[in-house]
Amino acid sequence: MITFQTPLDLVRVLHPESPVACVRPERVSTAAAWFQNHFPGDVLYAVKANPSPWALDAMYEAGMRWFDVASLEEIELVANRFDDAVLAYMHPIKSRNSIERAYFDYGVRIFVLDCEAELQKILEATDFAKDLTLVVRMAVSNDGASMPLSGKFGCFGDDAAHLLQAARSYADELGVSFHVGSQCMDPGAYRIAMDTVSNTIVQAAVTVDIVDVGGGFPALYPGMQPPELQSYIDVINQVFEEMPVLFNADLWCEPGRALVADSTSIVAKVELVRDGRVYLNDGAYGNLFDAAHCKWPFPMEVHRVSGKTSIHSKPFTIYGPTCDSIDVLDGVFDLPADIQEGDYIEFGMMGAYGTAMSTRFNGFGDTKTYRVRNSISQTMYETQAEEQRRYENNVIFLPRREA
Ligand SMILES: Cc1ncc(COP(=O)(O)O)c(C=O)c1O
Repeated sequence: MITFQTPLDLVRVLHPESPVACVRPERVSTAAAWFQNHFPGDVLYAVKANPSPWALDAMYEAGMRWFDVASLEEIELVANRFDDAVLAYMHPIKSRNSIERAYFDYGVRIFVLDCEAELQKILEATDFAKDLTLVVRMAVSNDGASMPLSGKFGCFGDDAAHLLQAARSYADELGVSFHVGSQCMDPGAYRIAMDTVSNTIVQAAVTVDIVDVGGGFPALYPGMQPPELQSYIDVINQVFEEMPVLFNADLWCEPGRALVADSTSIVAKVELVRDGRVYLNDGAYGNLFDAAHCKWPFPMEVHRVSGKTSIHSKPFTIYGPTCDSIDVLDGVFDLPADIQEGDYIEFGMMGAYGTAMSTRFNGFGDTKTYRVRNSISQTMYETQAEEQRRYENNVIFLPRREA
């Protein structure tokens, strides 16, 4: 992959006409290694967060072998890349055909479910296989999360207890899983979720081989200061010891965002500026889905090929390129007052749910990928001193505020 020292170098050399993903594979490797060294169990990378080949390769190089996949396409992507990958099909609602293909063509043995109809489907599609690991996804509180994911998946109460019993009678290994919601800011959320799960296991009176605490681990978005990742691990480790599961039960986690968020920035070109509006060639239907839909701030920097931008700033609304009026970033942004066509805006912290979300709407969505060395994205995996130094040297903050 072609490497540039900075995004400004990149725009000076390439004058890119389509959005660019500036990627830092070493950030992914650092995060993957950290999780594998500190989490007292197996770490499954949630591929949905960023399925880019460079990200998968960086995971693999850091020793990641377990992958949480959500579709047949993700299964094919990972299985065709890594012979020794262990795949867990963690989408609670799967097509019959994809279960069959996963089991018979790709050797997948781990399937999640949250209702009896899905259990029946998995059993039928695998010819009532005897070597299944069945993981029951439970619904838990998402109160600690900046992006709650509750309401769509997961079972609870008597339904969950009955499903555990039903799955136990077919499973070679039985697991329980949950998701506390993405960008979880409170390690205590894992305790609450694990206590909920424990109560249901006691009610169901089944033996449980695996506890999967899901994803939700945070990244360092500007203005959001989650506790250190180690404190999440400590809570999980401590509560796991108290759970009514087999003494040799396995502990799993499925981080997505925390492994990739700080690895990528998106550089988008300014196509037009008028009346306090900046129109970019990337937006809510492209790589900036997260920036448009999550209302938290992202680090931003303006790059001008011909020289410095004004130090004076003005509030602007930022629009994406499609004809849809909801293709706009929430809030207003203080950008250089003289921002103009041909300038570029770099958005940091776009490695999770960034390029992964891009659509082809209106024919946009073409994104080039280059490796870049410096970064405007903060990371959970550096010491504070290193971070502080980098910030003082490099980064201008252009945080959003309410419109
Ligand atoms: C089943 C499952 N596991 C893991 C993840 C990754 O979550 P996060 O990116 O918050 O770590 C998700 C995200 O939607 C998920 O649905």
